[in-house]
Amino acid sequence: MQLVSGAHHSPFISSEWWRSAIIYQIYPRSFVDGNGDGMGDLPGITSRLGSLASLGIDAIWLSPIMRSPQKDAGYDVSDYTDVDPLFGTLADFDAMVGRAHELGLRVLVDLVPNHTSDQHKWFQAALAAPKGSPERAFYHFKEGKGLDGELPPNNWLSMFGGPAWTRVEDGSWYCHLFDSSQPDLNWENPAVQEAFEEILRFWLDREVDGFRVDQPHAMGKADGLPDHPDVDRAGAGFIEGEPSPPMWFQASVHPIFRRWRQILDSYPGERAMCGEAYVLPLSFMALWVRNDEFHQTFNFRYLDSEWKPEILFATINESFKAFDSVGAPSTWVLSNHDIIRHASRMGGVVGRPTASDGIGPSDPQPDRELGLRRARGATLFTLALPGSTYLYQGEELGLPEHTTIAPEFRQDPTFFRTGGERVGRDGCRVPLPWESGAGAANGFNQTGKAWIPQPELYAEYSRDQQEGVEGSTLEMYKHALRLRKVLGLGNGSFDWEPEYTNATTLGYRNGGVLVIHNFGQEAIELPQGEVIASSANAASVGIEPDQTVWLKTK
Ligand code: NOJ
Repeated sequence: MQLVSGAHHSPFISSEWWRSAIIYQIYPRSFVDGNGDGMGDLPGITSRLGSLASLGIDAIWLSPIMRSPQKDAGYDVSDYTDVDPLFGTLADFDAMVGRAHELGLRVLVDLVPNHTSDQHKWFQAALAAPKGSPERAFYHFKEGKGLDGELPPNNWLSMFGGPAWTRVEDGSWYCHLFDSSQPDLNWENPAVQEAFEEILRFWLDREVDGFRVDQPHAMGKADGLPDHPDVDRAGAGFIEGEPSPPMWFQASVHPIFRRWRQILDSYPGERAMCGEAYVLPLSFMALWVRNDEFHQTFNFRYLDSEWKPEILFATINESFKAFDSVGAPSTWVLSNHDIIRHASRMGGVVGRPTASDGIGPSDPQPDRELGLRRARGATLFTLALPGSTYLYQGEELGLPEHTTIAPEFRQDPTFFRTGGERVGRDGCRVPLPWESGAGAANGFNQTGKAWIPQPELYAEYSRDQQEGVEGSTLEMYKHALRLRKVLGLGNGSFDWEPEYTNATTLGYRNGGVLVIHNFGQEAIELPQGEVIASSANAASVGIEPDQTVWLKTK
């Protein structure tokens, strides 16, 4: 069976950096701990930026470093213009940006505009002010239903479990699509809009190269906050293809992003913003990357795709069709801080209904060897696709998920809001191993402390065990990233190779490079051409199951 009617993608005329960039996500708590307190920090990041430059990336994106009570690992900001003392100071931040720029790396920071922390001065002022006051108008406060207003104002649910409403002392309720410590801002309020424009400028003045914007598709809420029409089937989410529920994808947000784009464009040096817009289908997501809005959005279709040829074929076609229609680059991503690491996700049955719910000790455990083999194949298949690609820290080491975290170390609010029924996302957020045996945390710091202790098996994945070792996952990433740059693949073209586009293989061409992945159970013959990259770490005569090869054919 041959898969037919595939996409074609031509190179873009312009070559702005964000169209083809490899953007590496740093999860600051777990990258490097400079002061040994068990929590990663900015001086730690600065000290290891050289390793990232040598990996061959173009930019880093830092998950939130702004001041926060850390109820949702920094996605609950209490001061948007300061660094959380856990991570250091503004001076440490400036030093980190300076060093990154010296090394030729751009820096994106995470901006969280849908909600603040309940400790933010705006929310504290709202609580202290009477009903109907301008302070309350920063958020969504509403009276409840029932005889005495004792029932929530509508049927919305929190993404982390339980209702999306919490009642305050004077009987009003406030809306939070996430944890009760994360009240949603009211983006209809011009004062909120103005405040965020100032925040953008604050960080742009500090020379950041742009932003990763959290939950932009949640910022608009339908007038009057009506019930979710399909809460029984959709829960807190939405059902693809059906009309937008009142808390997702409201058209009212687009003028806000147009304004932000103008602000970014008023600064020199191609500042860029990427929206975490969980909007599907991609033809709908494309509206978010029109040329006067976001530069990029995460390609959640690709992230969520099962690793099967017919599904990937459809996903890649949909991606190029949608993003090309508005002249935006497609992005590609396999792992991040909200989802089971792909080296584990691909290692068999993971025992959880959705990949973002983590794997617990009593769940079926992934097969490490199979997972890593497939993950390497998936990564190499991804890295030759034209567009911009996101890497999540540790994937270059082939790091598996930590599946046996003891309950006392868990921090994800999902775990607490569901009484442990959903273990949450901590398993992909564990400190990185840098040097095997350098203290209990393998060189994450010198004291061995770690906010989540590493599992023993992380020592064998340490960077020092892989650096310069032929066939290691780290060297596979470095080699592929170097080739990608030299051959201009990020800015390249895309066409399926019909002979290899079927139920057991997928093959595509980017310029003179032919990429083939074997999804089948049997090795297949190598076609004519020079193998320039391979995901298998032993020399092979054919293309083994789960293997990807890049061939130069002209
Ligand atoms: C998306 C972030 O990636 C996730 O980690 C966070 O919990 C939610 N947004 C809420 O801010």
